Formats: sequence, C-alpha cells, structure tokens
Amino acid sequence: MGSSIIITMFTGKGGVGKTTCAAAAALHYASLGKETIAISTDATPSLSHIFELTHKEKPAIVKEFLSINELGMNEVMEMWDKKFGAEVYAVFSSLVSIDYSRFLEFMTSVLPGLSDEFMLDYIKELNVSDEYENIIWDTAPLGQTLALLETPALLRKHLRMAPRVYSKLKLGHKSKKPIMDILRHWEEASTEIMDFIRKKVRFNIVTIPEALAVEQLASTFHKLDEYGLTVQQLIINNVIKGKDSDFLRAKAEQQKSYIETIHDSYSNMEVVELPMFPYELKGLERLKEIDILLFKNTQ
Ligand SMILES: Nc1ncnc2c1ncn2[C@@H]1O[C@H](COP(=O)(O)OP(=O)(O)OP(=O)(O)O)[C@@H](O)[C@H]1O
Ligand SMILES: [Mg+2]
Repeated sequence: MGSSIIITMFTGKGGVGKTTCAAAAALHYASLGKETIAISTDATPSLSHIFELTHKEKPAIVKEFLSINELGMNEVMEMWDKKFGAEVYAVFSSLVSIDYSRFLEFMTSVLPGLSDEFMLDYIKELNVSDEYENIIWDTAPLGQTLALLETPALLRKHLRMAPRVYSKLKLGHKSKKPIMDILRHWEEASTEIMDFIRKKVRFNIVTIPEALAVEQLASTFHKLDEYGLTVQQLIINNVIKGKDSDFLRAKAEQQKSYIETIHDSYSNMEVVELPMFPYELKGLERLKEIDILLFKNTQ
C-alpha cells in the first residue's frame, strides 16, 4: 500500500479556507472507504474544531476510515528525541555539561527549521507504513509553508558551518567524528525529504477573489515551480453567488474581475470555485457540501 499512497497538501494565505478544504477532502476519501488521516503542521491547528472533536488523542478517530493528527511542538520534540535526541545528546554531554532540556532548547535555536523538518519526516514515515491510503496535509499560512519547503536547504547551510564550529571548539579528532557522522546522516535525511515531497505530494492552492490574494498567487506559483513542485488544483473560495441584495450584488461585482483574472491566468490547471456559505463550515454534514463541490470533476 505504501507506494500508492496519495498525499494532498492545501496551502494558501492565512484564513482563506485551507483547513476547511483539507477537512472536506479527508472526508471525501474516507467516504470512499479509504483509510485516511488528516494531519496539521499548523502551530494553531483547527482540524479538531472543524470535525467537532472534544477528545484530544493523537491521532484521534473522527469516524470510520477517518483520523486526524495535529502535530504540535511537543510531538515534534518527541519525534526528534526518538530519532536523534539520545544519540546527539550522548555526544554533546560527553563534551559539555548540559542537561537534556537545555540541550533541546539549544538544538532548536541553532536549527530553526528543526520542527518543520520533523513534521515532514513524520509524513514520510506515514507513507511507508501500511496504515493509511490517503494523507491530507493541512498547513499553516503560506509564509510558513514556504519556509518549511526551504528547511532542508537551510539545514544544509547550517551543516556546512558545523565543521568550522567544531574546529573552533578545539576538540580532538576522535570526539569530533561521531557528531559529524550524525549530522551527515541528518543532511541525507533532508535531501530525501525534499525528493519525497517532489514525487509524492499533490499541491492544492486555496485563494479568495480579492486583490492581495490574487496578487500573491503569482509568487506562490513561482516559488513552487522553483522547487520543482506542481499544483494540482486551484480553489477560489468565498465566491458570492446570491444577487438578491445591494450588498451581495456589489460584493459579487467586486469579485468578478479577480475571478476572471484567475481563470485567465491559470487556464492550464483545474480551477474550482467554492461559494461563500452563510454559516460556519463545521461538522461532517456541512463539510460534505464542500466535498461534493471540490470533487465534482473527478466523479
Ligand atoms: N466557503 C466558505 N463560506 C463560509 N465560510 C467559510 C468558507 N470557507 C471557510 N469559511 C470559514 O472561514 C474561516 C477560516 O477558514 P479556515 O480555517 O478553513 O481557513 P485557513 O486558511 O485554514 O485559516 P488559517 O490560515 O488560519 O489556517 C472558518 O471559520 C471557516 O468556517
Ligand atoms: Mg487552517
């Protein structure tokens, strides 16, 4: 199963409807009887809120075939700890006297991309396990997502500096080697993660018909292109459909040119419009409405 897994990522500016779309897509695949997990790498996640879950297990089961997992800093620390923590700490603590919590603090300050790196690693591990057929990846607002894509390169930059740092510490050759090996191992893992994203992740961009959001689209596409990542679907959310009041007519008129611009500029890909609903999109029934619209071209 691992190799045929589908990973779908929703990205876009803050508040445009990424989590709503991610939740609807997760519901879609689960309804087809595919074991699905929606994960969030947002520091202020809202998946459990949208699915109206009160329990906080990680992962938490929403219904048959559908679970969610919101990865926060604690989970990331735990993963890091399991994978490298003990090893790196052993090397470090043989050189300097430092307790473990201060050491963790130090590592995350030296490597700011550490948490994102491990979130990606977690997704990669889900991919090789046979547990799920679909992973839906709900992300933080765009700036953070792009930083996340830059993490492996950032890490490499840090690592290139590492030998100099260690030589400054005037350590004997013997004590330098193990940590460099560990860091090299790390670097290999980052390159692998980037390759993995390129091959496996389907990107969906969510936007709204407003000046700033539409302006930012070009740079988003440019950035993704730079990384060799391709976009599967472009979603225009919050489109006003009703015209039975002056307010709605004015609002719809204002959106019109932006919607046209998007269709013209991105005619080479699937563009889906989602109406603005007069109620909050919470709970399975309402998400079902989004699901139907999002996937109407794939049936
Ligand atoms: N088409 C829509 N009609 C009405 N309300 C919507 C629509 N899409 C999203 N919303 C509402 O807008 C709010 C923001 O949506 P959502 O949380 O999905 O955005 P987001 O892009 O994930 O935000 P963030 O960047 O904070 O993660 C939510 O309250 C959601 O219910
Ligand atoms: Mg969100």
